[in-house]
Amino acid sequence: MQLLKDRIIKDGKIRFGNVLKVDSFLNHQMDIELFSEIGKEFKNRFIEDEVTKILTIEASGIGIACIAAQYFKVPVVFAKKNQTKNIAGDVYTGKVESFTHGRTYDIIVAKEFLQQEDKVLIIDDFLANGSALLGLTKLVRDAGATLVGAGIVIEKGFQEGGELVRSHGVRVESLAIIDSMNEEDGLVFRN
Ligand code: G4P
Ligand code: NA
Ligand code: NA
Repeated sequence: MQLLKDRIIKDGKIRFGNVLKVDSFLNHQMDIELFSEIGKEFKNRFIEDEVTKILTIEASGIGIACIAAQYFKVPVVFAKKNQTKNIAGDVYTGKVESFTHGRTYDIIVAKEFLQQEDKVLIIDDFLANGSALLGLTKLVRDAGATLVGAGIVIEKGFQEGGELVRSHGVRVESLAIIDSMNEEDGLVFRN
């Protein structure tokens, strides 16, 4: 998606440890006009799939998922991150290992919000190591729902997540895939 790539080049900041800061339009301050274009693009890519629900994970997936949902006209469910061991109620659970933050946490979704009849599209802001995305796909499978795929805003193509998740048979649509980034050469996008 050219509009997105242009914006990443203009406002993205490369940080130590292969981290891309996009706080001015995606992760902290949010450019809602850009979000709308992103939402439309996801709708176009999954137009045939009769999506009934969008699933994301708190915190930074929620904004993107909500704007996209306006084009799909479906509800958004966000998985909650839960650090306590005792999980109350009737919930589907998964584990996510955050390499960036160096810890593991549980994610949960109430069973009532993921039904067997659902055709679920997962949306998230970043795909890096893929642990979050794999955790979300497990929730969908545990519910017996259909996973139509994942819509990702920025995939870090030099980390293993994209390949890993696709190897599980998940259709991943990333609007910008970065193949390399460093302060000398800048950002290189996949074509
Ligand atoms: P994963 O999301 O693919 O599982 O990979 P990883 O464990 O490495 O990511 C940990 C967190 O860091 C995730 O957010 C992910 O979206 C974010 N992240 C990974 N790489 C980058 C990057 O280069 N730039 C930015 N801005 N974020 C990155 P999270 O833990 O789910 O937290 P939240 O921000 O959604 O609350
Ligand atoms: Na994030
Ligand atoms: Na996220």
